[in-house]
Formats: sequence, structure tokens, C-alpha cells
Amino acid sequence: MGTTYLITGGAGNLACQLTFELVARGDRIVLFDVADRPVGPVAEGCHYVRGDLTCAEDLSRALREHQPARIVHLASLLSGGCEEDRRRAWQVNMDGTFGLFEAALSAGIEEVFFASSLAAYGGELPEPLPEDFPEWPDGLYGVTKAAGERLGVYYHRRHGLDFRCVRLPAVLSRYAPPGAVSAYGSRAFVEAVQFGRFTFKVRPGTRLAMMYVRDALRAMAGLINAPPDRLTRRVYNVHAIAPSAEEIADAIAARVSPVTIRFDPDPQVVQLIESWPRALEDGSARRDWQWQPAYDLDRLADDFIEELRHELANGPRLRRADPQGPAEP
Ligand SMILES: NC(=O)c1ccc[n+]([C@@H]2O[C@H](COP(=O)([O-])OP(=O)(O)OC[C@H]3O[C@@H](n4cnc5c(N)ncnc54)[C@H](O)[C@@H]3O)[C@@H](O)[C@H]2O)c1
Repeated sequence: MGTTYLITGGAGNLACQLTFELVARGDRIVLFDVADRPVGPVAEGCHYVRGDLTCAEDLSRALREHQPARIVHLASLLSGGCEEDRRRAWQVNMDGTFGLFEAALSAGIEEVFFASSLAAYGGELPEPLPEDFPEWPDGLYGVTKAAGERLGVYYHRRHGLDFRCVRLPAVLSRYAPPGAVSAYGSRAFVEAVQFGRFTFKVRPGTRLAMMYVRDALRAMAGLINAPPDRLTRRVYNVHAIAPSAEEIADAIAARVSPVTIRFDPDPQVVQLIESWPRALEDGSARRDWQWQPAYDLDRLADDFIEELRHELANGPRLRRADPQGPAEP
């Protein structure tokens, strides 16, 4: 018998795609989100609950009715949205996350997984970034992510909750929300295939740590399912690639024709993106749960563009779990 998961932010980009990884293992999924419907296809058998994380009754009702053993906490305002509405960002990312940990304790949840971000870092950063480098984010989104990490570690140490967290880089994905400042890599692929053009708001030389969505889903599932006695820490860095915007443009131009790619850097966007890490040490994830990325820029460009073309021609394809399979610890 599989595990029952409640995924907050269950209508979002990563949640929808994670359902295929988890269902392939025989797990049961309850998606919890304030949105009307999921942003993309979800695995067969997922249950959708419309609810607001900032409403304690919505969350406790979902926990009562569905009795999940584990929570995957992905609900969040992203980098752009946090700056646009700081009060709502605090309510969802801070109060909502605190309420979730409290509800998890009351409901006897055994494991809470939290998706943090490289945006939790900021300022002058060494390269590669050591795993325990201090987090002094420049943006409010990063502040809420750093706080979520600390809160989770507190609930683990003081209250015995099995808290697990991975700091994801910018994930290259079909459903990357435009509200994320770091979504430019994803949008470049999507808009180049759909419209034959894209304008980068960063410099050609701007580099950022990124990861193809298939690797990101394997990283998440790998940590979620790692045996507890293998974990030497609660918050893990994972690293894959760090292409410049120009390298992304070249990878697209080599595969999509005709295509027009321009650069019109926005100083505020450039400043925020360039305050985030390009290379992170991730030795603990590699040792503890055998994390290893499978996609370099060429391989992901082939796969991503093939998926986008297929979708344009036939509609969304039900995303199978990665054929490479999750890393088994
Ligand atoms: N995609 C990336 O590149 C990336 C990188 C680092 C970290 N992350 C983190 O991973 C998680 C998932 O990211 P994503 O790309 O799927 O983003 P997303 O915006 O697609 O998903 C977030 C979901 O949270 C939901 N949500 C917002 N407020 C809510 C509330 N009050 N109650 C319930 N649901 C609410 C939204 O409706 C949305 O569906 C987020 O926590 C994000 O910070 C993502």
C-alpha cells in the first residue's frame, strides 16, 4: 500500500509534474491549492481540493478528510509576486508556512517536504557556494524561503517532525510561472517554439544555476523517499548546470528555425538574478541520497523542445515519470 501525500500549491508547475513521479510508486495524492484548477495535466487518480493555505480551517479540513501521512509544501508566492504584494507574500509564505507546520504536528504527519530556493542566498557569493554558506537574500521571496528552512529545522529538532528540504535552482519547465523572475530560461524555450521569438531581460552573460524539470522532480522524489537514517542534514543544495543567457539562446537557435532572440536587459531583474548563486556544492545530496543530474544543456534542449513541439501538435502529453528513474539510495 502506497503513502498518501497532501501537496500544497498542488495546482502549480512542480506539483502537477511531481504527481507522475509519486503515483508511479503507488502513492495516493491530494492536491491542495487556492487556484481553480491545476496548471497542467496531473496523474490519474489525484484528488483536487480547493483551499487557501492562509485559512486554518481549509487546511485542517483537508488533513482531517484525507489523512495524509506526508505533506509536500509547495504553495508560495514567487520572486516577482512577493515584491508586488509584500503583505500577501508574508501571509502565504510566512504565516501560511507556520500554520502548516502547526497543523502537521496536530495531525501527526510523519514527514514535511519543503521546496526552498537558491533565492535564499544573496550578496557577495563565493563560487562554488559551500553548503552552509550564510543566507542573506536580497529579495523578500528569499527571506521567506530562508525563514521556511529555519522553521522546518526548528520543528524537526524541537518536535521530532521529519522535515526535509531542497534548495532548488531555477527549474526549466513548460509550466514555469511568469511570476518568477528566474523563469526567463523556461520562457525562452516556450516562446521560441510557440512564437519564434523571445526577448531576454537579462544580459547575454548573465549566468544562473538552473536544472531541467526532470532532474528537479527526481531530486524532490529522491529526498522525499530517502530512508531517514541516510540523512545527515535537513536542508540540501542540489546543482546541475549554470548556462549564460547567451548559451541558452544558442541552444535554442541550433534547434528552432526561424527564431529571433533579443536582449533588452532590465537593470532591476539583472541585479536580482546576478545576486543568486551560479554554482553550489551539493556533496551531501550526492552522498546521502545519490543525487545526480542527468541533463546538461544540450540534452535538456533536445528533450524540452521535443516536448513543446509535441504539445503544440497534439496538446499536453501526460508526463511519465523520468525513464531514468529516481535515484535509489
Ligand atoms: N520552479 C522553480 O524554478 C522553483 C525554484 C525554486 C523553488 N521553487 C519552489 O517550488 C515551489 C513550487 O514552485 P512552482 O514552480 O510549482 O510555482 P507555482 O507558482 O506554479 O506553484 C505555486 C502554487 O502555490 C499556490 N498558492 C499560492 N498561494 C496559495 C495559498 N494561499 N493557498 C494555497 N495555494 C496557494 C498557487 O496557486 C500555485 O499553484 C514553490 O514553493 C517555489 O518557491 C520553485
